[in-house]
Amino acid sequence: MKPLLALFVTVHMLAACTRKSVPVITIREAPSFKPDISIYAEPGTVTADTLQGKSVFMARCERCHGIPHPLVFTVSQWENILERMIPRTRMGRDNAVHVRAYILSKVKRP
Ligand code: HEC
Repeated sequence: MKPLLALFVTVHMLAACTRKSVPVITIREAPSFKPDISIYAEPGTVTADTLQGKSVFMARCERCHGIPHPLVFTVSQWENILERMIPRTRMGRDNAVHVRAYILSKVKRP
């Protein structure tokens, strides 16, 4: 009986020492810098209204940190910022189109 027990223990110790299967990363997804248009209404369905955009911007983007000045960022920076900020306001996708149009109408740099 004893040798069998010893064998049993040895097999288990060996099993415990084998390398755990570590997941190997083979594919790396490049981060997307394209604005996620799902935060905006479908292109062509809403006519961008910068006046409406301004009032929504003033009313909805001020709550957490005050009004950011549009000129502080470039167009591409704004695209990234809006992608993160629009969902936080929970504004509709139509208003998101207006707000984006208003901000980008103020920005001069690409
Ligand atoms: C629910 C709160 C909240 C609302 C509403 C909100 N923001 Fe923000 N915002 C934040 C926080 C928190 C940060 C700090 C950076 C972060 O957490 O991403 C921030 C950062 C920013 C910045 C700094 C740049 C950066 O990349 O961090 C800008 C510009 C900005 N927000 C613009 C806006 C605009 C425009 C709107 C309206 C569409 C808006 N925010 C609405 C919470 C909010």
